[in-house]
Amino acid sequence: MRRFKWPGITILSLFLLAAIALRADFRAGYYAPTEPGAMRQALPDVFSTDANYSAGQFPLLEPALATGDGKETLEADCSLCHTPRFVTMQPPLPAETWAAEVEKMRKVMGASIPDDDAKKIVEYLSAHYTPETRKR
Ligand code: HEC
Repeated sequence: MRRFKWPGITILSLFLLAAIALRADFRAGYYAPTEPGAMRQALPDVFSTDANYSAGQFPLLEPALATGDGKETLEADCSLCHTPRFVTMQPPLPAETWAAEVEKMRKVMGASIPDDDAKKIVEYLSAHYTPETRKR
């Protein structure tokens, strides 16, 4: 049987690997030098001081709502929770459905839209977003 010649070197490399692993743990902040074994938070990242960030304008993709009476009212009252695109995303809907939709936004979703505004908005939606009146 061949004898393994350098057990010393093998043991030494194992120690070396263990030392490297331990050092990495210290560097990562897992151990404090005074109390190895205690869990610590990782050291904070060091940010470079010359970092330069910029962000472009957020694309809002606002829909081109049909021009007409009530457009501004709709934009003001219906943009609080979601984009007015929710209107243009729908298929053409009958006027009663729009009235029910606006009622749903008020009663179910909690939109605080005064009666006058709601009436105006339903008229606007009926004038531009029904199967008969919708242009695009
Ligand atoms: C208080 C917040 C709020 C306001 C103000 C609001 N909505 Fe909504 N709207 C919602 C929520 C919540 C949904 C559901 C979103 C979902 O299902 O992902 C919704 C959905 C919709 C939908 C999609 C169909 C549906 O019923 O889910 C349409 C169309 C719509 N709203 C139109 C309007 C119109 C028109 C107005 C103005 C009269 C309006 N919304 C105002 C909260 C609001």
